[in-house]
Amino acid sequence: MSKKPFLHEGILFPYEGYDPEMLRFTQEEFVFKDDDVMIMTYPKSGTNWLISILSLIRSKGDPTCVQSLPFWERAPWLETKFGFENLPTMKSPRLMTSHLPLRIFPKSIFNTKAKVIYLIRNPRDVLVSGYFFGHVVNLLGRPESLPEYFEWFLEGNVVYGSWFDHIRGWSSKRDWENLLWLSYEELLQDTRGTVEKICHFMGEKLTPEEIGSVMKYSSFQFMKGNKMSNFTALQDYNLIDWEHRAGMTLLRKGIAGDWKNHFTVAQAEAFDKIFKERTAGLPPELFPW
Ligand code: A3P
Repeated sequence: MSKKPFLHEGILFPYEGYDPEMLRFTQEEFVFKDDDVMIMTYPKSGTNWLISILSLIRSKGDPTCVQSLPFWERAPWLETKFGFENLPTMKSPRLMTSHLPLRIFPKSIFNTKAKVIYLIRNPRDVLVSGYFFGHVVNLLGRPESLPEYFEWFLEGNVVYGSWFDHIRGWSSKRDWENLLWLSYEELLQDTRGTVEKICHFMGEKLTPEEIGSVMKYSSFQFMKGNKMSNFTALQDYNLIDWEHRAGMTLLRKGIAGDWKNHFTVAQAEAFDKIFKERTAGLPPELFPW
């Protein structure tokens, strides 16, 4: 099998776990239900963290679900083969995940009461996280160096395409009443307040103790040690073979601003310039870092 990512509608997808026909079918035919909740992110923005939080909100803080089911079974990715095969028969209310840019996301969702939570993260940290993730699994060919990945990222030559296009697309839906816009940074800074906001949005009533339990079992330390959240279960499930390197996990540092430890002054300036150009016209409150 060729281990090259493929292009679908101008966007790169990983070589395994995805299929162009299924992507097309999902885009046109996927049937949403009013009680679906969709976790929407650009990769490396804290997706898995949000999946843990939502799983725990649904279980009222009981950790059994996050300890017994891997994250991709708790909230299957809409656009993957796994999602294609399992979502139609999954018990409601369903949690699901997607990284699709709005342009190729099934628009039928906007005619339902399904809810979408969009989690944004400082793209500089997304870039650094993605670079190191490239050493955990081989999605695109391993970047040789950060400068090389820096170029790929800014050109949108990475899986799921350009961060800037993703944000521009989804931010156009911010006024849709069923969309909650959150940032990784606010989730870090005020975890309890943000979990409460999510509960309110989902119509879930949790006691303060249950919220405490959600926070405990979705904390960085707990998730790092939890096989069902840290990616190590991937090998046991034999689901995909992304040349996963043994012992490496999805949970690397879990902080905001790590880019400052990795960008040179010249890279930081170049990034700022492109950021300004590519986000022109978007409200600054979208970027709370
Ligand atoms: P870093 O590589 O910067 O550490 P995704 O799930 O979208 O792939 O995002 C992965 C990023 O989210 C990683 O960032 C990971 O450490 C961070 N993350 C995952 N769980 C977290 C948690 N409980 N608290 C803070 N950050 C978390």
